[in-house]
Amino acid sequence: MKTYRIALIPGDGVGRDVTAAAWQVLGRVADNSGFKFQGTEFPWSCAFYKETGAMMPNDGIEILRAFDAILLGAVGWPALVPDSVSLHGLLLPIRKAFSQYANIRPHRLLRGVTSPLRSQDFDILCIRENTEGEYSGAGGRIHQGIDGEVAVETSIFTRRGVERILRFAFEQARARRGRLASVTKSNAQKFSMVFWDDVARELSSEYPDVALTSYHIDAMAARMVMAPESLDVVVASNLFGDILTDLGAAIQGGLGFAASANINPERTAPSMFELVHGSAPDIAHLGIANPIATIWSGAMMLDHLGEAGAARRLMSALEATTARGIATVHGKDRTDAITAAVLTALD
Ligand code: NAD
Ligand code: IPM
Ligand code: MN
Repeated sequence: MKTYRIALIPGDGVGRDVTAAAWQVLGRVADNSGFKFQGTEFPWSCAFYKETGAMMPNDGIEILRAFDAILLGAVGWPALVPDSVSLHGLLLPIRKAFSQYANIRPHRLLRGVTSPLRSQDFDILCIRENTEGEYSGAGGRIHQGIDGEVAVETSIFTRRGVERILRFAFEQARARRGRLASVTKSNAQKFSMVFWDDVARELSSEYPDVALTSYHIDAMAARMVMAPESLDVVVASNLFGDILTDLGAAIQGGLGFAASANINPERTAPSMFELVHGSAPDIAHLGIANPIATIWSGAMMLDHLGEAGAARRLMSALEATTARGIATVHGKDRTDAITAAVLTALD
């Protein structure tokens, strides 16, 4: 029987609850579809840091390389470890080391879920650059804590990095409704962002079937609220994509509904599937985290593994669940009740 090896990293806080839920659901999908998942769980997290002094072992990346995919919960528990240490010790290095440069985040309403917006009908695919830009981690602090302290953090935009993410976005737009919105801030940031706009314009001649429009990030934020139905594929740098996708989550009903995939399109290393939200310390251990985002991310994993039929069946089960009003009001349904409803819908 076809077997997929999956690395499970539940991480911190609600990451643990929602990955457990998604793993249960994925197991059922596999049973119903004639393939198997073989999961290996890694305890890498802020608690692991407290015990060992690191978020993952030195050879963590090499350990993960052997897997077909990674399913990750959430990383970060600021009461134990500063976020700047935990995220740069686990999540961000995986994205970079495995060239998961395309972070795909779908923003649309599942059946039965209402948007806080006037518009209840939109289908946006955000493509976020995931390995460089504003989150490159290049910089430093000098004269710390004394007079004249200076902090520098440099954004890095490479021709290779910008071209490959834009190309990926053009391809996605081509396979969807043929519209690509490229988001920068080239009126104020006159080097990196003008460069991004230039590359987008250059590439657009190779994609005559895709209508490219460039927007400034501030205007895009307003557009996503006022006219989300006007958007198809949206591509942005690491920081801008990060912010826009929390906005995307908000308009699709909340962070509990926002799925994401960190893709290595060339498949030279495993891709990683994770929700958009964080460890949600305010609701951790209450058993009320919404697992829908994680289960949806699991469907994206199935797609990536070439199990498109299973992915479709899982999405149908998810929508059959939300269509009944389950999980659509924050905190009304418990994590295990939502998971049970999805399992029932699958059978
Ligand atoms: P957060 O996404 O954890 O929470 C923001 C709000 O959304 C909270 O009110 C939370 O209760 C709610 N929420 C999040 N997930 C939910 C779910 N599944 N169901 C219902 N409500 C949900 O953001 P934060 O509070 O800024 O960050 C908390 C920690 O997580 C920090 O350490 C942060 O760095 C980290 N973080 C990690 C990731 C990741 O691993 N990908 C993403 C974002 C934040
Ligand atoms: C996300 C998160 C992370 C990011 C943080 C936790 C580093 O906010 O996946 O959106 O910005 O990449
Ligand atoms: Mn984010």
